[in-house]
Amino acid sequence: MAQRLHLLLSIIFFANLIRFSSQQDLSFVYNGFNQVPHADLHLDGVARIQLPGGLLQLTDATTQKMGHAFFNRPFDFGSASSQSFWTHFVCALVPKPGADGGHGIAFVLSSSMDLTQADPTQYLGLFNISTNGSPSSQILAIELDTVESAEFDDIDKNHVGIDENNLHSVVSATASYYSDSEGTNKSLTLLSGDPIQVWIDYEDNLLNVTLAPLRNQKPSKPLLSRNVNLTSVFPDGKAFVGFSAATGSLISYQYILGWSFSTSRGSLQNLDISKLPTVPRPKIPKKTSPLLVILLVILAVLVIAVLVGVCVYKRKKYAEVKEPWEKPYGPLRYTYKSLYKATGGFKRDGRLGKGGFGEVYKGTMPLVGDIAVKRLSHDAEQGMKQFVAEVVTMGSLQHKNLVPLLGYCRRKGELLLVSKYMEGGSVDQYLFQDDRPPLSWSQRLAILRDIASALCHLHTGASQVVLHRDIKASNVMLNGNLQGFLGDFGMARFDDRGANLSATAAVGTIGYMALELTSSGTSTRTDVYAFGAFMLEVTCGRRPFDPEMPVEKRHLVKWVVECWKRGSLVDAIDRRLGGKFIPGEVEMVLKLGLLCTSIVPDSRPSMEQVVQYINRHQMLPDLYPNTPGIGVSTPVLMGVPSLAITSTSGISSASPPSVSSSPANNSMFISHTIMYGDGR
Ligand SMILES: *[C@@H]1O[C@H](CO)[C@@H](O)[C@H](O)[C@H]1NC(C)=O
Ligand SMILES: *[C@@H]1O[C@H](CO)[C@@H](O)[C@H](O)[C@H]1NC(C)=O
Ligand SMILES: *[C@@H]1O[C@H](CO)[C@@H](O)[C@H](O)[C@H]1NC(C)=O
Ligand SMILES: *[C@@H]1O[C@H](CO)[C@@H](O)[C@H](O)[C@H]1NC(C)=O
Repeated sequence: MAQRLHLLLSIIFFANLIRFSSQQDLSFVYNGFNQVPHADLHLDGVARIQLPGGLLQLTDATTQKMGHAFFNRPFDFGSASSQSFWTHFVCALVPKPGADGGHGIAFVLSSSMDLTQADPTQYLGLFNISTNGSPSSQILAIELDTVESAEFDDIDKNHVGIDENNLHSVVSATASYYSDSEGTNKSLTLLSGDPIQVWIDYEDNLLNVTLAPLRNQKPSKPLLSRNVNLTSVFPDGKAFVGFSAATGSLISYQYILGWSFSTSRGSLQNLDISKLPTVPRPKIPKKTSPLLVILLVILAVLVIAVLVGVCVYKRKKYAEVKEPWEKPYGPLRYTYKSLYKATGGFKRDGRLGKGGFGEVYKGTMPLVGDIAVKRLSHDAEQGMKQFVAEVVTMGSLQHKNLVPLLGYCRRKGELLLVSKYMEGGSVDQYLFQDDRPPLSWSQRLAILRDIASALCHLHTGASQVVLHRDIKASNVMLNGNLQGFLGDFGMARFDDRGANLSATAAVGTIGYMALELTSSGTSTRTDVYAFGAFMLEVTCGRRPFDPEMPVEKRHLVKWVVECWKRGSLVDAIDRRLGGKFIPGEVEMVLKLGLLCTSIVPDSRPSMEQVVQYINRHQMLPDLYPNTPGIGVSTPVLMGVPSLAITSTSGISSASPPSVSSSPANNSMFISHTIMYGDGR
């Protein structure tokens, strides 16, 4: 049933589209080639109709191919009173991406539909070498030629020509069209892939060829207009009409989209542009020029280099030294990155101080709060393990008067120690800087008691004795309530001048250093000596050693004993107290200070005893100005060149060797001294 209906419809179509008004009249229209029975078309070569679109493909993109399509009934003009025909078709020549296309399409009138003996390439499927130029060929062609063939004197590779039995065109012109609106000729590229309209009109021996892009009206002026005598080309008065196209080594897809033909002007049916099939455009593979490839490669290399650089920089910036032995200290270890962030990249304005060991920065850490980060430079790697072990030990030492050490971080050539930030600053600031209010006597005594207790804890509280090694006013920190905290314990061990760490014999600060340091090294006794010096310093408001003072006042211990000898020990008290103090306490503290700074180590009390004395739980042993060993100024420094001296301000200008003026009542006294320090 459906088949019959289809047949019926086909017949109606057929009758409608092909009309013979007289015996000679021929008229048909193809709005795409799927709409009518294409039995009326004679195809050969590679020509075929693409379904369902109905595109008439004359050539595909294979080389040396041709395709023909003829309407299978001839156009008989022999007996006609006036010879004429009118045709309008739409074609598209689509280049294969990346290749020059060839060779072109021709509208053909031919006495024979059999052009299989013709050649492709420049012959366009119309002639071969022996038939070209021969009147017996009986071919009239209008060529749309996209290759410039020198042998036929082609004008260019984008031209339209009229060929009478010969590819040597009788007339040709570069493809263009007349724009009626603009009044100028506009160029047209045949091989653009865009559909092109072609009108070929023949009347009164005049053949006109007109081109235009798809959406344009027919231009009023033809591209080619030429006298042609059809009878002389086709002596039989008959010709088949159709198309021929060919490829050579140059290839393109060549299509006819629609075609209308009539032997009379009035019968020519309009093409319905909207019904025409669309032209497939082969995907254009991205044409990458070698230059672009090189540029891309360079760009990629640059990007990689920058990324690698950033990685290396970041790694370097935050690089740390980590060794297996540190594993147990994991929780105490900080990442460099976190410290870097906490201190705002160790900015200068966050710097709290700069000393012989390194620099101290203030920082803030989430959860922890304010911190002080000390950066110590070091070269010695061997002592590091032991040192870190000690740091960690100290970190675990809990005492209410020890500045809590929170942890550490190791980098190459650097050690960072993190402790709690003490907002009150250090005691020496209160003693010697005018911008701080003077501490009252009770405050001073409380601080001394705090520090004595802390130092005692270091000496006795842990499973092993921990020495402070650098007790001095600048290492005693205060909180907001002016409570004393001992900070920086163990630091003196750490010598940034690369001295052998095992030779911790003589490090400390001038004025706080016991004489025996050079001979027998640090011990709890040397810590006691330094604490004694500190007690005197806090009470008298003077540095243990002050090179700017007159000779008799330069050494604090000596001067205190001088005061005592002259009548009153309490005369040595800090004048800034304005006489507000309890003489008994002052006397006790000064005597204890002198006892602790005895030149005879065994005469010094232990820290446990010091705590007992200073808290008045135990009476001081009897002490007199002439008790052997007390009030003896230790030489500032013995003439040992390799000796490592550390102080917060580092080594300053060396004074010339001086002969001490100390009394000669002690045989241990070394008269020849060399001063390396400024006593701070
Ligand atoms: C050229 O074509 C004609 C017929 O059109 C044929 O007889 C002849 O052999 C062909 N010559 C060559 C060289 O192909
Ligand atoms: C061909 O073009 C000429 C010049 O434009 C014109 O006079 C003539 O009528 C045209 N002939 C046909 C058949 O269109
Ligand atoms: C347009 O082209 C035609 C045919 O090639 C030529 O005869 C005519 O002079 C041209 N007109 C202009 C304005 O260039
Ligand atoms: C056309 O050609 C034929 C045969 O060559 C000749 O008889 C006729 O006169 C020509 N017509 C014109 C208009 O030149």
